Amino acid sequence: MLTIAISKGRLQDETLALFARAGLEADGAELNSRRLIVSAIGARCRFVFVKPADVPTYVEYGVADAGVCGRDVLLEARAEVHEPLDLGLGRCRIAVAGRREVVGEDYNLLATVRVATKYPRVTADYFHERGIPIEVVTLAGSVELAPLLGLSDRIVDLVETGRTLRENGLEVIDVITESTARLIVNRASFHLKRSEVSGLVTALAGVV
Ligand code: PRP
Repeated sequence: MLTIAISKGRLQDETLALFARAGLEADGAELNSRRLIVSAIGARCRFVFVKPADVPTYVEYGVADAGVCGRDVLLEARAEVHEPLDLGLGRCRIAVAGRREVVGEDYNLLATVRVATKYPRVTADYFHERGIPIEVVTLAGSVELAPLLGLSDRIVDLVETGRTLRENGLEVIDVITESTARLIVNRASFHLKRSEVSGLVTALAGVV
C-alpha cells in the first residue's frame, strides 16, 4: 500500500486528474467528503491531502511514500527526498516584483531592501548571490499586498497568469526560476517498496 501526499489548492484537481489517467482514481464519494485520507478505487494506494508546503515534510518523514508539490515548494523546503518525475502541471515562475514605479530602480539607492515572500530561503539566496543586502519579511499569503501598504520594497512570489500582479499595479522585475509540479518519493520507500514505486513512476510517466 502506497500513501501519496497531494497538495491541496491550486494543483489538487489537475494532480488527481493525472493520477486517474494513470489508473489511480480517487474514490469520488470520499473525495467529496471532508476526509483527509481518501482511497484509490481498486488500487493499492491512498491519498492524503495536505497544504503544499507540508508535502515534503510528510514524504521526508516517510508517513507518505510519495507526494506531489511544486518545484517552488521543494526549493524552499530542501527536503531529503527523491524527485523522479516532472509532472509538467501548474507551470509558473518564481519572480521578484515591485510597484511599477520602482522597476529599474538601482538597489544601491535603498538603505535596506525589504522583501516580502512565502519563500524566505529562495529569496535570501537570490539577493545574497547578487551581493544585495536585504531584510526578508516572511508572509503566509497575499504577498502582493506588502508593497502596496509599504511593508516591503519588493516581493518574491509565484506568477502564473500575471493577473494578481497586474491588478495590483505590480510588475515582474526578474524571474528567479520556473516551477512545475514534481513527483517526490521518500528515500526508504524508494528502496523498500521498489516495485510499487517504480509502478507508480512508470504509470505517471506514461500520461504526463
Ligand atoms: C498564488 C501566488 C500569487 C498568485 C499568482 O497565490 O502567490 O498570489 O497565485 O497567480 P496569477 O499570476 O495567475 O495571478 P495563491 O492563490 O496560491 O494564494 P496566496 O496569496 O494565499 O499565496
